[in-house]
Amino acid sequence: MKFHVITFGCQMNAHDSQWLTRAMEQRGWEESAEDQAQVFILNTCSVREKPEQKVYSCLGRLARHLGRSPERFAAVGGCVAQQVGREFFERFPAVRLVFGADGVARAPEALTRLAQEPGTRISLLDFLPTYEEREVALPQVETRPDRASPVSAFVNIMQGCDNFCTYCIVPFVRGRQKSRAPADILAECRALAENGVREITLLGQNVNSYGLDDCGQGLSFAQLLDQVAGIQEISRLRFTTSHPKDLAPEVVAAFARHENLCPQLHLPLQAGSDAVLKRMGRRYDRERYFSLVRDLRAARPDLALTTDLIVGFPSETEEDFLQTLEMMEAVRFAGAFSFKYCDRPGTAAARMDPKVPEEVAADRLSRLQKLQDGITEGYLGEQVGREVLVLFEGGSRKPGEDGGGAMGRDPWGRVVNVPGEDPAGLIGRQALVRILEAKKHSLLGKRVGAPCWK
Ligand code: SAH
Ligand code: SF4
Ligand code: F3S
Repeated sequence: MKFHVITFGCQMNAHDSQWLTRAMEQRGWEESAEDQAQVFILNTCSVREKPEQKVYSCLGRLARHLGRSPERFAAVGGCVAQQVGREFFERFPAVRLVFGADGVARAPEALTRLAQEPGTRISLLDFLPTYEEREVALPQVETRPDRASPVSAFVNIMQGCDNFCTYCIVPFVRGRQKSRAPADILAECRALAENGVREITLLGQNVNSYGLDDCGQGLSFAQLLDQVAGIQEISRLRFTTSHPKDLAPEVVAAFARHENLCPQLHLPLQAGSDAVLKRMGRRYDRERYFSLVRDLRAARPDLALTTDLIVGFPSETEEDFLQTLEMMEAVRFAGAFSFKYCDRPGTAAARMDPKVPEEVAADRLSRLQKLQDGITEGYLGEQVGREVLVLFEGGSRKPGEDGGGAMGRDPWGRVVNVPGEDPAGLIGRQALVRILEAKKHSLLGKRVGAPCWK
């Protein structure tokens, strides 16, 4: 069977899609381009209205394609699947499988069955009490010339979220927090390292509360970090996402302790006004956030901090908004994802009034983004002339004038393009690169050192 996966949403979805692809390949299925696929797998996101709408328009577009032959079908997984459930079967007859976050592990088996039994439909929407281990389907050293060997990999350390920030649908669609067993996490990290992976990103909605749920085994996130950082072959370790309220001093200290823990942290601030933070249910205030930033920078002065910001939360005043801008200037984030607040079904904020008018929110978002663009530009500009160790991932998405070029990331997570280099000999290796130019969101450089594996 030829299948095509379309992924929306966060890194957790990206990771689920990667695993599912490999699990299907292990069953003899073949990943293909959209126009050749018989089965479509949509892994969906419902965190905001826009990605949810994209799922429906994508299914509408595929319906024409799928309608032509009965053995072609679609599967919808992830957060919109969990939210909308079996209604997908009625709205889009070509959909024959819906699976939520806890159904991913059993999706390969269900897909195989559906391919053999036309007319069947399956839904995997139940939340499970524990983190269910998935079959092992690790990225392998590639022998196909059109594919890159894996360099970076995600590793799940938990599922779900218990925070119920008032704007957020994630706890409803991803379920309660369930920590994965430390032995399973470590076994996966070691196996990945053996397969050539050099960079690992530990994943969870709130990694700082790892181990603090019913499935915890007494190991804290800081202790888990120590163990993963101890794997020799892993030259770069990252983790996401962190919640400021749970970032423990031991995790802050880890940035000073482990050479292979990258100097990069995504620490969502969401808003700069204490009143708004309170209504968002974030359980920290400006002062707590500032003090974390101070501690983090004391532990690791070159730490690149990135963040998420929401504008136009219900009742947000111009004063509140100015406090967000003020904090952005004070912290100087290396980068920020920013969003206009939107109501999500079932959340507490959806019932909060008054809502901020659309044009006011749009104006705030554009002012905020303009400010951040300036900060990012200044930050990237400071890198010109420096030499950084780049771990190469593949070809440049925006090739240089001569057409070629390799792309990688430096330890701070910045994208570095190196025009004129053939990616083939560089993927999976690190090399010293001198930064020549700062683009809007990336850097451009020239290799000055020989590529090495470590
Ligand atoms: N677990 C992560 C992020 C989850 S969602 C965390 O706690 O930070 C990613 C981002 O989407 C959030 O950080 C938030 O900025 C944004 N977001 C979530 N719900 C939203 C909503 N209803 N409207 C606008 N942005 C939202
Ligand atoms: Fe959503 Fe808050 Fe959980 Fe993040 S911590 S997923 S924003 S509820
Ligand atoms: Fe989206 Fe679900 Fe991730 S709502 S952000 S795909 S957890």
